Amino acid sequence: MKEKILALLKETNQYISGQDLCEHFGVSRTAVWKAINQLKKEGYQIDSVQNKGYRLVAIPDILSEAELKTSRNTRWIGKNLVFFEETDSTNNQAKRIAEDGAESGSLVVADCQSAGRGRRGRNFSSPKGVGIFMTAMIRPEVLPNQASMLTLVSALAVRAAIEEVAGLKTQIKWPNDVIINGKKTCGILTEMSSQEDYINYLVIGIGINVKNPDFPEEIREVATSLSIEGVENISRCELVWSVWRHFENYYDSYLKTRDLSELEEEYNCYLVNRDQKVRVLDYSNPYEGVARGIDKSGNLLVETKEGIQTVSTGEVSVRGVYGYV
Ligand code: BTN
Repeated sequence: MKEKILALLKETNQYISGQDLCEHFGVSRTAVWKAINQLKKEGYQIDSVQNKGYRLVAIPDILSEAELKTSRNTRWIGKNLVFFEETDSTNNQAKRIAEDGAESGSLVVADCQSAGRGRRGRNFSSPKGVGIFMTAMIRPEVLPNQASMLTLVSALAVRAAIEEVAGLKTQIKWPNDVIINGKKTCGILTEMSSQEDYINYLVIGIGINVKNPDFPEEIREVATSLSIEGVENISRCELVWSVWRHFENYYDSYLKTRDLSELEEEYNCYLVNRDQKVRVLDYSNPYEGVARGIDKSGNLLVETKEGIQTVSTGEVSVRGVYGYV
């Protein structure tokens, strides 16, 4: 009921009487009153005027199931939405619903994670009320060896969404960290369940630092948030849907060729260390070179004295010679 009333208040944007709400939804006055009170408790500013009714005045930054469902403007991602105030990891939850047969495009969102996971077995700091932690589960009809490119597709989507919603200049550190002013504001962890030539499902986990005022000591030098970069009034729901709207469009381009032919040029425009010296941390044989951009498979091309080296995702990590980027 709460969600339906919220949707109607958003739609009409003017006073609706309690009586009209009761009749519209076929419920009692008490049910309407309870739903309105719940919404107010969640932070919605609802004006109640005698003889006029209720009007939604302002929507603060609320990451909730009702707000997400009533603001979705994607085509297919998030039609099936699972929301948690807190969970271990949205990637874990997405895998659980995938195993239970959930539809492709299902989205898991949490306001905080108790066991957020990063790449290479690291933790991902996931405090309450300041970030976005979400995972989309998709069942792409591509070969398992074509799936790692989707992590670059996701980075393009987050980059574009942050620029759209926050108006900040964003770049990408290969393969998929989103960077603002040289620091990381988003990390992406893609995991796959596959057979030899078939993908059961893929989970794309995205963590965005939105309103973090500060970070734990060990990542302070390399991490930033949108508010640290000077943008305070972000609606996290708007940002969630902006990410997935952009993802849907980039994903369509990717599916045409099942590679990054159509996206390679755009990705390279935003590559933070393009034409800069990088260190490739290949465990057995670390080396330095100049990053020249990605190819259509998402590999990073690094120019060394011996020629162009093709660095594939997952194998190695790349650092700037003078620091993180
Ligand atoms: C990285 O930069 O190392 C990747 C971080 C990925 C974090 C996100 S937050 C949502 C999803 N759930 C997780 O446990 N991890 C990803």
